Amino acid sequence: MKNQYPIQIYPSILSGDFGRLSDEAKRIEAAGADAIHIDIMDGHFVPNLTLGPKAVAAINRSVNLFLDVHVMIYHPFDYVEAFVSAGADRITFHFEATEDVEETIHFIRKCGVKAGLAFRPETSFSMAVKYLTQCDLILFMTVSPGFGGQKFMPDILEKVRLAREYCDRNQIRQGGVVAKDGLRPDLLPPFDIQVDGGVNALTAKACIDAGANVLVSGDFLFQQPNLSSGIQLLRAP
Ligand code: DX5
Ligand code: ZN
Repeated sequence: MKNQYPIQIYPSILSGDFGRLSDEAKRIEAAGADAIHIDIMDGHFVPNLTLGPKAVAAINRSVNLFLDVHVMIYHPFDYVEAFVSAGADRITFHFEATEDVEETIHFIRKCGVKAGLAFRPETSFSMAVKYLTQCDLILFMTVSPGFGGQKFMPDILEKVRLAREYCDRNQIRQGGVVAKDGLRPDLLPPFDIQVDGGVNALTAKACIDAGANVLVSGDFLFQQPNLSSGIQLLRAP
């Protein structure tokens, strides 16, 4: 089925210049992105280290954009309040890094921000099903998390397809809301299905066709001579 949903593009600031984070954030905002994707890595869950709450707060002071914080860390629960205070608008944590997934989703929402749940490429779709009605976004990693600039894994598209089909069949809409009792599903925004890793003009088309509506892109966008045209290209590849 053709994906009829509005497509959101989130540049990943991981591919930007870390010496000029605030300028990069402003550039992303001026280019018309829907949000800034900020990757947090702990050197344990993934073999790399990046930013912490202080850098998120600095980005937050520079722009008015939605901050999509992707935490690739063990014990995400312990850091929720710090990232919320720093200005995160959504915190997406990893299923594989967390013992208390439901408790963490509830706590993130209780803190007043959106909760996303991420899945590594090797984790099967069946693990995601019950969370489609519990959280605000599901992220299917299309590379092994840890680094920008890796090659897109096309096999993951099957998980995206299954998730979108499941949401459509069960009328699951934005925020995991089930459209029933008179709520018309076609009038509610779609459930957010995000892909992250190796997204470029070619792979973006495949992701959108499979049913993704939120695309993260790092190296591809930052290598474009014009960030704004790159974003437009990904929105309608
Ligand atoms: C990888 C990160 C991604 C990364 C994507 O672990 O989660 O957000 O920045 O970068 P590209 O688009 O270069 O694969
Ligand atoms: Zn990411």
